[in-house]
Amino acid sequence: MNQAALHRLISSSLKEKNPELLFEKRFATNLTLIKDLFFSVYDKKIHRKHFEKLLALLPKLFNQRPETLRTQDVERIESGDWFQSEQMVGMQLYVDLFNKDLKGVLEKIPYFNDLGINFLHLMPIMTRPSGENDGGYAVNSYHEIDKGYGTKKDLLKLSGKLREKSMYLMLDFVVNHTSDEFPWAKKAKQGNKKYQKYYHIYDNRTIPDEFEKSLPEVFPEKAPGNFTYNPEMEKWVMTVFNEYQWDLNYSSPEVFLEMLENLCKMVNLGVDIVRFDALAFLWKKLGTISQNLPEAHNLVSLFKMCLQVVAPGTLFLAEAIVAPHEIIKYLGQGATEGNECEVAYNASLMALLWNSIATKKTGLLYKSMANIPEKPEYCTWVNYIRCHDDIGLGLDDRFIAELGWNPQGHRKFLLDYYCQNLDWSPAKGVLFMYNPKTGDGRISGSAASLLGLEKALEKNDARQIETSVNKINMLHAIILSFGGMPIIYAGDEIATLNDYSFLKDKTKKDDNRWINRSKHDWKTVERLNNKKLPQSKVYHTLKKLISIRKKTKELADGNNLELHHAGNEHVLVFERTGVDKQGVLVVCNFDETSQVINGSWVAKLGYLKNSVFYDLITAKKSEVNSGFIELKPYQILWLKKL
Ligand code: GLC
Repeated sequence: MNQAALHRLISSSLKEKNPELLFEKRFATNLTLIKDLFFSVYDKKIHRKHFEKLLALLPKLFNQRPETLRTQDVERIESGDWFQSEQMVGMQLYVDLFNKDLKGVLEKIPYFNDLGINFLHLMPIMTRPSGENDGGYAVNSYHEIDKGYGTKKDLLKLSGKLREKSMYLMLDFVVNHTSDEFPWAKKAKQGNKKYQKYYHIYDNRTIPDEFEKSLPEVFPEKAPGNFTYNPEMEKWVMTVFNEYQWDLNYSSPEVFLEMLENLCKMVNLGVDIVRFDALAFLWKKLGTISQNLPEAHNLVSLFKMCLQVVAPGTLFLAEAIVAPHEIIKYLGQGATEGNECEVAYNASLMALLWNSIATKKTGLLYKSMANIPEKPEYCTWVNYIRCHDDIGLGLDDRFIAELGWNPQGHRKFLLDYYCQNLDWSPAKGVLFMYNPKTGDGRISGSAASLLGLEKALEKNDARQIETSVNKINMLHAIILSFGGMPIIYAGDEIATLNDYSFLKDKTKKDDNRWINRSKHDWKTVERLNNKKLPQSKVYHTLKKLISIRKKTKELADGNNLELHHAGNEHVLVFERTGVDKQGVLVVCNFDETSQVINGSWVAKLGYLKNSVFYDLITAKKSEVNSGFIELKPYQILWLKKL
């Protein structure tokens, strides 16, 4: 049982739900864990005062929590699993690209409602440097809205409206780094020693050179190395991402305390889920890759346990795009099980789906999924196909090898397939941050272009257009039924293609992730009534799938996922088991030709009766053909027991 479950028990045993009293109880319940986590990172003998500061800070932060949010917190504690519900369907969007500013997003609430979206991830909206700023991931503040997006009042109005409509809001907390224009960085540049300690700053190259021996490079083409020389200080600063993103130094407890205050100020703007950006990088240690270190986990859990005391209705989403067996650890392990992040990006599923599209086979998906330990009870995934970032090939080499493929060769094949190195491939993506030293590379491109629509439209090839639409729909149907919160990347609902305009912008041209960050195409939205357009086929299918998901209780995440082997290497089958022998059997064909699966084991599972099966998507009963269920290319079935 995690801490949240304890709070639920305590709260439901109380007759009067007084927020202050509940705060006291949460504080007392989490205190031992907070103490242990704090002193696991900070030395007991040196930092006792800072611990006392933290204890004094929590009531202060609770007092700053707005009344409405405190009341909502109490409701959320008791409802517990609201975020695991089948009702959750998210959309990720850039405010400016979507509809100009925060007011523009507010105006589009009917659009979200039409599609069935009830959860918005707004990409960074806080102040940032005016030139390059990594799409706002270089922050000048954690709670001041950038003028270009609107005002604090606009955000409060939007978050209030979302609450009123039972919708949810997610914002980023860029916890690992600030921009080089952040007030602390500015003071550091002016020679302020206190603030120089807030970052990893060195007088000469001795320690940076030591670090470089084991640190990988995140953006090797654009920002090679992990340190940047600052001429004002005449010192070297750790900049793991871009030169203008300075890594915070969490070995100083002052940094933790100030960041906790920043976090609370941000969530008080009406944030339901905090996307904990690049959290794997929080702790640095010589001789290691400085990712996923135990101290980073303890820090995340410490943030969580404190935030749970102050604002228990707010969740953490782990943005840890790391190896499959590392991702799950952000949901907590051992004493922190379920007490770290409640949600994590299912980056492994995402990468495996792209792998299955390219290979037309599901073997690696099965092998990898079967080897991921079950997640803690009160946690869930964000399932997605595309986001604003590149696609990293987070695949396990061991499993690739077990399938008889050479891991390096296989990765090269995937890059070639998606990045226009194979004539026959329908995909049109671009290679991102290829590192010739390691042979590693990632993939940029929009879902539709990677799934063949761009090339098919160029060639005016009706068959290929249809295939591409079917692929998009199948992947959407998988993330909607896998278990967790599906997040649609804005534009994918209308099959947006690559946008090459970034090449003309000097602040963007060196970062081809911008190929998949295009302005929302409202002209196409106006034409969605024309059901013949490929974009309409994607939109209306997605809308239908969302509405079915919302009516299907088994699709809520209760850790009720079971993989089944269909005996066909092109087919993926998983079941979402339900109570009272109910359930949904998801069957999908990753091949470009029709495939069959044997009806007899489908019957054993209870999804075939008297040779008839029922598909929720087409809402039709069908008969097996000579004992086999046939799937058209890229078809997906959501079978329900008859
Ligand atoms: C996350 C963001 C990415 C950004 C990086 C650095 O990975 O998704 O866009 O570049 O953090 O902040």
